[in-house]
Order: sequence, then C-alpha cells, then structure tokens
Amino acid sequence: MPSSANTLADPFVHISKEFMDDPYPIFHRLRAEAPVFWSEKGRYWLVTRYADAHHILRDGNYEKGIPHAGPVKNFIVHMTGGDELKESVANWVALKNPPEHTRIRSTANKAFTPTMITRMRPSIQDIANHLIDELEKKQEFDLVSEYAFELPVRVIAKMLGVPADDIDKLHQWSNILTGLLEPRQGFNPGRMHKMVGANREFIDYLRPLVEERKKNPQEDLISDLLAAQDSANKLTEEELLANCVFMLIAGHETTVNLIGNGVHALVTNPEQLALIKENPDLTPQAVEEALRYQCPVQMVRRIAHQDLELGGHKIAKEDLVIISLGACNRDPAVFPNPDKFDISRKDARHLAFGEGVHFCLGASLARAEADIAFRTLFDRLPGLKLKTTSLEYKDPFGLRGFKEIPVTVK
Ligand code: HEM
Repeated sequence: MPSSANTLADPFVHISKEFMDDPYPIFHRLRAEAPVFWSEKGRYWLVTRYADAHHILRDGNYEKGIPHAGPVKNFIVHMTGGDELKESVANWVALKNPPEHTRIRSTANKAFTPTMITRMRPSIQDIANHLIDELEKKQEFDLVSEYAFELPVRVIAKMLGVPADDIDKLHQWSNILTGLLEPRQGFNPGRMHKMVGANREFIDYLRPLVEERKKNPQEDLISDLLAAQDSANKLTEEELLANCVFMLIAGHETTVNLIGNGVHALVTNPEQLALIKENPDLTPQAVEEALRYQCPVQMVRRIAHQDLELGGHKIAKEDLVIISLGACNRDPAVFPNPDKFDISRKDARHLAFGEGVHFCLGASLARAEADIAFRTLFDRLPGLKLKTTSLEYKDPFGLRGFKEIPVTVK
C-alpha cells in the first residue's frame, strides 16, 4: 500500500477536541503537504484540494460502492447486505450508480422542480412565522432545537404530505436514521437495531399515504413522484418508499446545521449581518457563504472503479476515497482569504452540495429554507444575540453543526 507523509496523521481516526472546534488549520496543512493523503488506519485516501474533489465528483471512474477493506467497509456491508433495512437502504438514489441512478434520479428530478420550490415558499414562510410567533414571547431560547431543527422537519412533512399532527414521529425517525449518514462511526448492533425499527415504522407509515395519493393526487412530493413515473423510468413501490425515507434523512439534519451555522456566522461577524439587515436581497449570498464557510456535510466518499492516478498517487481499484468538502471549501486556490466569512464573494462555486451526477437533489429547497429562515429571524428578532461564545459542535464530525446555540432576544 502507498506511503504518506510521516508527520501528518488522519484527523478523523481520533477526533480531538481541538480539531472538532476548528478543523481548518489541520485541513490547510494536509492540503499543503499531502493533498491526496493515504490513511493507514482508516484505509482510505483523504482529499483536501478543491480541484481534485471537483475532478473526482465528475469522473465516472469514481463510484458509489463498498470499499475492499477498513472500518467504513464493515458499516456499509451491514447497511447494504440482506435484511429489510439493508434492502431499503440499497434503494436510495444516493447509493446507486448509473444506469440505476439515472433511472431513479430522473424520476425524482421531475418532482423536484422550480415549480415545486415556488409552491413550497409560502408554506416555508408560514412555518418560520409560526415558530417566531412563539419565540418572540421568550427572553432567550436555543436557536438549534427551537428554530433550526423545527423548520426543516415541518417543511419535509409538508413536502411529503404528512399531516402536522405526526411531526413528532418524523422527529424521532429523523433522530435515529440520521446515523445512517455517518459510516465512520462504525457498526454498533444496538444502534443498528433502532435504525431497523425506525425505518420499518416510517415505511409502514408511508405505505397507506402512497395508496391514498394514487387515488387522490395532491400538491405534494409523493403525488409528484407517482405522476413522474413514466414507463421508461418506473420506480418500484419499495424504491419510492425508500427514497421518501431518504428525503427525511438527507434533508433534515443537513438543513438544521445550515441554519444554525449560518446564523452563528452572521452574528459573530456583525459587519456581514449589517449588510443583510440593510439589504435583505443579499440574503441568498449569505446562504451561499454559510454553505461554504462551515459546510453541513463535511465529507462524501467514492470507490475507485479501476486503477487510477490522482495527484501523483496510484489509486487502486476499489480503494475508498473520502473527499473533505469542508477542506475543499476553504482552498485558497479557489477562495481568497478562505477563513474569512464574506458574503460578497462572487464567481466561486462551493462544493457543499457535492458536484456531478449526485449533486444534491434538495439544494434549491435547502437554499429557500435558509433564505427564509435568516430573513424572518433577523427581521422579527433584530436584537438577537449569542448568550455565550463557548459553543460545542455535535458528534459526529461529518454532519457539522452546533449542539445548542443559546440566544437572547431583548
Ligand atoms: C443544507 C442542506 C443540505 C446539504 C448541505 C446537502 C448536501 C448534500 C451532498 C453533499 C450531497 C452529495 C452526496 C454525494 O455526492 O455523495 C447530497 C445529495 C443528496 N441530497 Fe442533499 N443536502 C442538503 C439538503 C437536502 C434536502 C433538503 C434534500 C431533500 C429534501 C436533499 C436530498 C438529497 C438527495 C436525494 C441526494 C442524493 C442525490 C443523488 O445521489 O443523486 N438534500 N446532499
């Protein structure tokens, strides 16, 4: 196996408090000294340079799949092997390769249209207003659990056509199933058991809803997915159900963290916050910069489909490649002064939603949610301030966001 710079260690093997609080000095060092880094312990390549990440994500030679060795392999094998959870997960669009991926994705694309986002905006605004109606009665609150967490779960409920009364169920399923996005945590039978149960309950919940929508289509995603099933790209019922579950997993915690991280970046950079307060039309730029600066999904992974070359290294067939999106979004070759939160940046595309065929299906929805969340919060609670500056990030590192953000409003 390849050798790597001795002095550098894989920061993900034992995540230190220092790295958790501020991973960027280590990412900068890795990018400068070993941008394609072989982790002996993790048995993967770690990529920290924007250009390499962009290339990999657009190159069909790097695919979704199971690595031939290492701790990530164990988790993925357990996730995608042979029981009901595994069969369900194996249907997720995010884990498929072309041509299967193209078939499922093209159906989903027909449902995730600009019209759908336009249709959702008034509902997102209502949800944000309703949450602030409650929060403005308080002197202080936790921005993560009481605003950032609540908004996207209600949006997903609305999008799927799940009645508001059942939102608590979505909360529980989301909390458990989000673990499926973090294979580095390794296989744990207790955790997996809970995931099997949550996945089964959610699918059993959705099944009659799908039957109902077949008879009475509504303005929601399930009806749109059913309508988009032309004969060439037909989804099986199990694929449709599994991908509805995946929408909750992919679209909840990620958006919670975008809202939390973005509000935090704005309030700790008051000159930037002043810009959007003076001119709310700059809010979409603040959303893009929040996505770049503290990206909610810190890494994506691919498997080499054949022997390849990358940055002077030989990548063997079936090697696992982990792309650190967080590091790539701070690459000074693309983003001058990368550690500055600057909403006036132009012309540089961050990789927070990935790139290529797996580019985030929900990117426009997440952008609309964050745009409305920021505008509504700062318009209606102009005196919002952090109650403390010592905040902790959540485990696991891969989904980056704060545990709590206590704020005061008076
Ligand atoms: C800030 C919020 C979000 C972030 C940062 C984010 C990030 C990402 C990233 C990085 C990928 C690519 C994964 C890869 O290349 O392996 C992805 C894929 C995906 N995302 Fe998102 N996402 C967000 C919100 C959402 C929402 C709201 C939804 C849907 C409701 C969603 C649905 C999906 C789906 C279905 C895929 C798989 C697409 C495919 O494989 O073709 N995401 N997301």
